[in-house]
Amino acid sequence: MAYSDKVIDHYNNPRNVGSFDKTEDNVGTGIVGAPECGDVMKLQLKISDDGIIEEARFKTFGCGSAIASSSLATEWVKGKTLDDALKIKNTEIAKELNLPPVKLHCSVLAEDAIKGAIEDYQKKRQKA
Ligand code: FES
Ligand code: FES
Repeated sequence: MAYSDKVIDHYNNPRNVGSFDKTEDNVGTGIVGAPECGDVMKLQLKISDDGIIEEARFKTFGCGSAIASSSLATEWVKGKTLDDALKIKNTEIAKELNLPPVKLHCSVLAEDAIKGAIEDYQKKRQKA
């Protein structure tokens, strides 16, 4: 299958690869797996006290489309409020990357990982 230029670019030069310490209380961690293929994506957000996403990191064990989707997601969430980050749709990611139908679930992984990371952060805050 042919990957789009944007997928190849993110695959070759992934943005924001890495990890934050997930025990820090300003860090939210989302880990999601794709039942379709077994790929796993971890996405972490560093969030300021006033609810702005300052930085994002990801590690993805998966296909090129999943890596590109998570790389793009880390770029898109940066500087956003949590509410705005929650509005990012997998369909927007898929459109930006020209993902073919069989690769749509790779972008779903990225949307779910953002939501998971925000949920994790909010849970931590409630406990604090
Ligand atoms: Fe093989 Fe995703 S299906 S890496
Ligand atoms: Fe499964 Fe891309 S995440 S093929």
